[in-house]
Amino acid sequence: MNIISIKNLCFGYENVSVLSRISLTVEHGDFVGIIGSNGAGKSTLLKLVLGLLKPESGSIELFGSNVCEFKDYNKIGYIPQNSASLAAGFPATVEEIVKANLFSQIGFLRFPTKKHTALVKRALETVGMQTYAKRMIGELSGGQQQRVMIARVLVNNPQILFLDEPTTGVDAAASEALYALLEQLNRESGITVVMVTHDVERVARSAKRLIRIEPSGAWEVEADAAI
Ligand SMILES: Nc1ncnc2c1ncn2[C@@H]1O[C@H](COP(=O)(O)OP(=O)(O)OP(=O)(O)O)[C@@H](O)[C@H]1O
Ligand SMILES: [Mg+2]
Repeated sequence: MNIISIKNLCFGYENVSVLSRISLTVEHGDFVGIIGSNGAGKSTLLKLVLGLLKPESGSIELFGSNVCEFKDYNKIGYIPQNSASLAAGFPATVEEIVKANLFSQIGFLRFPTKKHTALVKRALETVGMQTYAKRMIGELSGGQQQRVMIARVLVNNPQILFLDEPTTGVDAAASEALYALLEQLNRESGITVVMVTHDVERVARSAKRLIRIEPSGAWEVEADAAI
């Protein structure tokens, strides 16, 4: 089944066209790298797929339903561009940041149960950050914050992960570790990965498909040609 199906999508901000005639599909189990120059519309495309912006024309289906009618947000994990640096200013511990994303399960006025605490622990273990649970998020390095942001979305057990330039400002070793983690989540847990990045050579080694966003549309790129 296609998790995402986009047909002839056009979008602009205040009549300035950004995306035109975008058609693409993402299947369950895919690992897709979205590439393209600054301002090509990659972040905009993710926001449209997540229903945060409305298409001018064309259609976007998510898990088989029109994105406007889609409500099952627990199926989706979204890590926006620069999200770690935004979270860094938050006066909360690593554990609290991850637990806060369980609010739809916990409810605003109820206390988290042992089950919720265990889910948080497991998500932090998956990204190798369990020993930092009690630390303030702002006291961690950029790469460590990025991992916490991934744990924050993994805690809901999503079927698809959207990551917008997750390796920006992260060193080579942490970037490698992130790719290894994404490959593992894709291979072992069957999580579909859609990742925007400028690191074309690196993503070409991990992704199953590469899609380049251009003014004329979205084009499939052969990984060999990109490396
Ligand atoms: N909220 C907004 N209002 C008006 N124009 C916007 C808005 N957000 C983005 N744009 C413009 O839309 C175009 C696409 O922006 P977008 O952020 O999607 O690009 P991108 O491909 O993600 O670029 P980058 O690689 O730099 O992150 C750019 O020209 C940008 O200036
Ligand atoms: Mg962007």
